Amino acid sequence: MSARITASVYTSHVPAIGVAVDLDKTREPYWQPLFAGYETSRAWIAEHTPDAIVLVYNDHATRFGLDLIPTFAIGTAARFPVADEGWGPRPVPDVIGHPELAAHITQSVIQQDFDLTIVNDLPVDHGLTVPLSLMFGQPDAWPCPVVPVAVNVVQYPAPSGRRCLELGKAIRRALDTFDGDLDVQIWGTGGMSHQLQGPRAGLINSEFDHAFLDRLIADPEGLAGMPHIEYVREAGSEGIELVMWLIARGAMGDLAGGATPSTVHRFYHVPASNTAVGHLVLQENQRESA
Ligand code: DHB
Ligand code: FE
Repeated sequence: MSARITASVYTSHVPAIGVAVDLDKTREPYWQPLFAGYETSRAWIAEHTPDAIVLVYNDHATRFGLDLIPTFAIGTAARFPVADEGWGPRPVPDVIGHPELAAHITQSVIQQDFDLTIVNDLPVDHGLTVPLSLMFGQPDAWPCPVVPVAVNVVQYPAPSGRRCLELGKAIRRALDTFDGDLDVQIWGTGGMSHQLQGPRAGLINSEFDHAFLDRLIADPEGLAGMPHIEYVREAGSEGIELVMWLIARGAMGDLAGGATPSTVHRFYHVPASNTAVGHLVLQENQRESA
């Protein structure tokens, strides 16, 4: 028995997408093409609903702030309330945790020399709830438990791409020794190119984004070597959120000697609010027999 990664999902988490869902604007001309781009993934996940999701996201000064800045934090609680980001919590279900899986990942990953901060009180913001809305729509309850993994990409210095990829590998190894039988997806959120502040506010770099998606699929080890300055220069100050996608990618089996994953769906759309939206679903394949 063990837990196993079955797929990884990557998506932007623009807050205005959540507002469009909550205010029933998804069929309006501005939003329709964006939501159409997720239909394949929604049909796919209805057929491949996991037993749990490890959801890598960043908190946007909602739970954490300048008083407390964990580089990597893991939510170990049984339930995560939807955060009030200034205009009341989104009208979406609370997020149910998986304390056993979270505790196991915590002990395994820390003993693999990663420092994770354990968080039991974790209201979750748009970084976590918008991806759930994009993939699952508006259910009365989210279809499976979620283990939140929060990454600091807000306050300098963010972790390197290399460290993120290695954390993903460590999470995969942790699942191997879980005493239970679980299909687990790992999601990476944030990005793609966007800058919300300063003279370059509104920056979008589609060429960079497409190249990032290509390399995420085919050359994650090389992509992990991209320095922060390149994310910020090319993808804008908030484009650094993309390092989180490397955590999800690092957990895929091809980086542990397994088969190349299949691309279930790839989508790119400009813009949603100030952001280039990227989305990718990679599914595990059985190891090719020798
Ligand atoms: C926007 C995008 C984000 O990723 C975010 O966290 C906040 C705002 C935006 O494009 O509006
Ligand atoms: Fe963000």
